[in-house]
Amino acid sequence: MAMNSSEKILVTGGAGYVGSALCPKLLKQGYNVRVLDLFIYDPASLDACKKYNSFETVKGDIRNKDAVQQAMKDMDCVIHLASISNDPTGDLDESLTRSVNFEAYKVLLDSAKRKGVKRFINASSSSVYGIKDEENVTEELSCNPLTYYSKYKLMSEKLVEEACDDKFTTVNIRPATICGYSPRQRLDLTVNVLTAHAASKGVITVHGGQQRRPNLTMEDITDLYVKLVETDKSLIAGKVFNVGYENMKIIEIAELVKQTLGSKRDVQIRVDETFDHRDYHISSEKIRKELGFQPKATVKDMILQVASAMEKGLVGNIEWDKYYNIRQMKLDHFA
Ligand SMILES: NC(=O)c1ccc[n+]([C@@H]2O[C@H](COP(=O)([O-])OP(=O)(O)OC[C@H]3O[C@@H](n4cnc5c(N)ncnc54)[C@H](O)[C@@H]3O)[C@@H](O)[C@H]2O)c1
Repeated sequence: MAMNSSEKILVTGGAGYVGSALCPKLLKQGYNVRVLDLFIYDPASLDACKKYNSFETVKGDIRNKDAVQQAMKDMDCVIHLASISNDPTGDLDESLTRSVNFEAYKVLLDSAKRKGVKRFINASSSSVYGIKDEENVTEELSCNPLTYYSKYKLMSEKLVEEACDDKFTTVNIRPATICGYSPRQRLDLTVNVLTAHAASKGVITVHGGQQRRPNLTMEDITDLYVKLVETDKSLIAGKVFNVGYENMKIIEIAELVKQTLGSKRDVQIRVDETFDHRDYHISSEKIRKELGFQPKATVKDMILQVASAMEKGLVGNIEWDKYYNIRQMKLDHFA
């Protein structure tokens, strides 16, 4: 049970991949949870939360001042996840990405302060670094965002940092790519898509393969957000933290998928060309030293978790659009 379970938490984007795994965890800890979301991907992703009286949803756009003010009322803490949340969807329409991933923060932060919210936890991304030569990418290194998604993520971090004061604690989190099962499954993330193809088709295609990518499990990112709700404010106020665990080459992930699922079916790996050479290795030493946060679950655990969810029928046809942000998100969702 949480230390202060009467706390009321607004999770923006709470119906998404991370949010729909996080909300049940917060509710089990005894928190009151409200979600503000446009419900773009799966209207049923929060069904398991509906049994809690301490849960409610507001359907609305984070760029709509009225919806935001309504959602902020009586809240103590915001976990801000709502976003156009990967590089290809961010590239669909720059002005939309700018408005959701950057401009909306002015209304969100202002409204949170006016309504007496005490804490704002912001999901940024480790993609803000772009391609780096350094072996270990720490928070002190400069950022070089390569896409609209990461450019506006980085610009919004600044607004979040500047809004921090004695009464309003803000923190920016730069997670690695998340893997694992969620009620709103995403299959456009490396470990998940390789696992889904291996388990259902027995063939996985790796583009390039030599690029290193940092990974973090759904178990650990959701544990971290829960922890941040009650971490002493002096440890986090105005700060930015990377968070990742196993840094692996994409080909190594493919081989791990093959090996992990090998007893159930034969998996072939095909390698083709790539134009995406993003290659980075983030350091998560700062969060370990300053907050004592050490991820526990492994990529292998998540391969087994996604494969098991598929076996149980919790994931439908892996070609459905709803599992891929770029296919499901339509610009008229934001009309
Ligand atoms: N999944 C990852 O690997 C990963 C890695 C690093 C950072 N992040 C960040 O974590 C956050 C959550 O990611 P996710 O994978 O759960 O994304 P997601 O796309 O699954 O969920 C985003 C949610 O936000 C909602 N949304 C989008 N625009 C909105 C708007 N204008 N108003 C209200 N709701 C809106 C969508 O309906 C969706 O439910 C995002 O900010 C993302 O950038 C994710």
